[in-house]
Amino acid sequence: MTLSATAYLWLKALHLIFVIAWMAGLFYLPRLFVYHTQAKPGSDQSELFKVMERRLYRAIMVPALVLTLIFGGLLLANADWQAGWLQAKLVLLVGMVVFHFACGRWKNDFARDANRHSEKFYRVANEIPTLLMIGIVLLAVLKPF
Ligand code: HEM
Repeated sequence: MTLSATAYLWLKALHLIFVIAWMAGLFYLPRLFVYHTQAKPGSDQSELFKVMERRLYRAIMVPALVLTLIFGGLLLANADWQAGWLQAKLVLLVGMVVFHFACGRWKNDFARDANRHSEKFYRVANEIPTLLMIGIVLLAVLKPF
């Protein structure tokens, strides 16, 4: 199946809208974990972080991931599978999806008052989606190979 030029542009716009929403969550949730490590388990502050983390993950990140995949997946109808940039982009995307589910796991740890990681760990983890995003955008826009 090949998409018409207009359909392709609409799908690309929708793809990018949900990419932005997904990225917002992937950047902010680990930052909440950094702050959450400072709150005593059982404190009001810790309970508030739990609510913020759960809502961000369920109401923003999961739907945005699904919709990014749907619209990105539809764009693949026009894609040249031989293109190196596309294959490299898909590899980095797998990394982004793995990071997303790792965030879900860390959120569940905090929800059970059973966080296993330090503030430093979440600070470093916070850089991962940034690096992946830079790589993905450079590959998708510059198509260097
Ligand atoms: C989750 C699965 C994803 C799939 C299956 C996917 C797939 C695609 C496809 C097939 C295109 C059209 C490329 C073209 O032929 O020009 C595209 C465009 C684009 N994607 Fe994705 N994508 C995904 C996620 C992402 C993410 C996470 C980002 C950014 C962090 C991203 C950034 C972009 C950008 C910037 C474009 C526009 C490129 C251009 O037209 O110049 N995508 N995507």
